[in-house]
Amino acid sequence: MKVTVLKTAEEIGVAVAKIFTDEVKANPDCILGLATGASPIPTYNSIIKTHKEEGISFKGVKTYNLDEYCDLPKADKNSYYTFMHEQLFNSLDILEENVHFLDGNATDTDAECRRYDNEINEAGGIDIQLLGIGNNAHIGFNEPADSFTDGSFKVKLTDSTIEANKIYFDENPMPHYALTMGVNQIMSAKKIVLIATGPKKAEAVRNMIKGEVTPQVPASILQNHNDVEIFLDEAAASLL
Ligand code: F6R
Repeated sequence: MKVTVLKTAEEIGVAVAKIFTDEVKANPDCILGLATGASPIPTYNSIIKTHKEEGISFKGVKTYNLDEYCDLPKADKNSYYTFMHEQLFNSLDILEENVHFLDGNATDTDAECRRYDNEINEAGGIDIQLLGIGNNAHIGFNEPADSFTDGSFKVKLTDSTIEANKIYFDENPMPHYALTMGVNQIMSAKKIVLIATGPKKAEAVRNMIKGEVTPQVPASILQNHNDVEIFLDEAAASLL
């Protein structure tokens, strides 16, 4: 694991965006795994800036998002589909047919999860996967559990995750289920970049990097990947 501590979330965004835009320059048909939440927003802002300033095209790029809420219309302002379009896709020249999500409203969620995993594998697998980390050390929506998960699946969100994310759901209740890529699917990415900022992440970050590899700390599995870069601000790194 390569750990880099920077002063601000904006500096992290610039550094992480460079990893992604360098990949797109070198490999215009690359496959990117993307995350939602607060952590990647500065990175997305910086990718957009580079796209505009340097004219890098995303027309050949395919993206696969980590997760999506269940029982939330795709067009809802809190769907991850909407988030990604607002925060990134609408400002790039990426093609709509090249952006992929799990369908959290599928009637047969098992079939939907198999479809998604097969599509990623048939596309050649993810070149770079972007991750945040939950306060409980979840990656994607892989919550602390008795065993590491394999492919995509439907998950019941923990109280900790509901507490952290319900701020975004003002008038409507937050969904309690989501579809998420599984841990082994995430681990099959060729390169993984994780961002953590703020004091609430400090304990999860310490357990991920310094603790034992255990499904009770889902992000700890990243110790077993041979190309992981972790970007932290000082608050998130404070217990290392
Ligand atoms: C989002 C995701 C989650 C978040 C994590 C951190 O697609 O998979 O694992 O990365 O909950 O969220 P923020 O960045 O909002 O602290």
